[in-house]
Amino acid sequence: MTRFDPSGPLRGELRAPPDKSISHRAALIGAMTEGGVEATGYLDAADTRSTLDAVRALGGQVEEAGASDAPGGIDVRIDGIGLCGPGTRLADQDDPVAIDVGNAGTLLRLLPGWLAGQPRGTGVLDGDESIRRRPVDRVAEPLREMGADVDCRDGRLPPLTVNAERLHGISYRMPIASAQVKSCVLLAGLLAEGETQVIEPAPTRDHTERLLAAWGARVSTEDLRTLPTLGGGPTRRITIEPAERLTGGALQVPGDFSSAAFMLVAATVVDGSRVRLEGVGLNPTRIGLLGILTRMGAPIEVEEQPEGIEPTGAILARHGPLEATRVHSEEVPLAIDELPLVALLGCFAEGTTVVSGAEELRHKESDRIATVVDGLRGLGAEIEATEDGFVVIGTGGLRGGRLAAHGDHRLAMLGAIAGLASRDGVEVEGMDAAAVSYPGFEADLQALI
Ligand code: S3P
Repeated sequence: MTRFDPSGPLRGELRAPPDKSISHRAALIGAMTEGGVEATGYLDAADTRSTLDAVRALGGQVEEAGASDAPGGIDVRIDGIGLCGPGTRLADQDDPVAIDVGNAGTLLRLLPGWLAGQPRGTGVLDGDESIRRRPVDRVAEPLREMGADVDCRDGRLPPLTVNAERLHGISYRMPIASAQVKSCVLLAGLLAEGETQVIEPAPTRDHTERLLAAWGARVSTEDLRTLPTLGGGPTRRITIEPAERLTGGALQVPGDFSSAAFMLVAATVVDGSRVRLEGVGLNPTRIGLLGILTRMGAPIEVEEQPEGIEPTGAILARHGPLEATRVHSEEVPLAIDELPLVALLGCFAEGTTVVSGAEELRHKESDRIATVVDGLRGLGAEIEATEDGFVVIGTGGLRGGRLAAHGDHRLAMLGAIAGLASRDGVEVEGMDAAAVSYPGFEADLQALI
């Protein structure tokens, strides 16, 4: 049990740890290149270490050059295996290659796209108890449409077995807005015959497209707009051409907006706070929370820096009074991992905050509709779950109490922030889960208190 007492103002400057989504992709796509990838500030956390291990299990070379200048990061060189290189273990051995994805849902969903189109061999992906509850039919279905030979438990759960097959391009309209599914299909598209298209019901994070384009793939994105009379919002079509090779290159991984978000929200709800976050990724497909905070009246300021492969900048957050807001389905993918924090903000806002169209939260590291609602209610919040989100009545504060992390890193960190802003403090059960994405979380928080 870790206790977080009510805190005085949070003050100071911080660099958020490196981005988890981009680190996973740097390693995986890096392994698919011929020239290799040098990633400066690769996230040194449990999830992204699972991806380095997966690359090694497949025969890739990962050289760790030690701690990076960016806190929480390491500098790594990944020597490319090539798109369907002879160097893959898959091609060399008759036995299936076992890949332990640990707790990493992104690795579980992206890697099958690459494995499915290999010239020969079999990979079996499995992970911890939580990963075994996370659906993989969402990637199995489009991959099968492309001709892949994949198999999973009860038709939807890991372990996921991927046998190498010849693939052909498809046009896939995703039933859910998922960057992981999109990325899986795009990676498979590199190895397929003919072009592959993915149509997403709402824009999702586009790190895969950015890295692939930077490293030599032909990938393009068009914004589509369905007729308002059909009830449609903006959608996107991403097209990828098969590739002979990817070049690789250098990448500076930006700070993770989703990790920075905990500090932003802490500064917003703890009286008298003023916190500046440096070097944060500001990819427009990730920063939905900034729009939500602005609507709620939070005094947030953003300074953008010149753009590389990914946009970055500094964010200044201060305490201020909040008004309730509504978050609808189109905004959900842009703030998917920050919605637990929106529930906390709702407790401190005036009025009723409603999040809808977020059924996907039920399929994260925990059922985040149930765990967030039960967790915050246990601390005194007036919050109700709905099928696809939650409704919070702001009472201006939170009593405190105990919150169980359920092995979910974002829930553990939510409990900690709730504690700082509460009247009586919060005891978090399972704080160690934070190490999945943010091993330095408690130390960073201490530095601001
Ligand atoms: C991720 C995409 C999101 C997000 C997850 C990381 C990624 O999942 O919740 O934490 O790196 O692509 P979905 O794409 O399944 O919504």
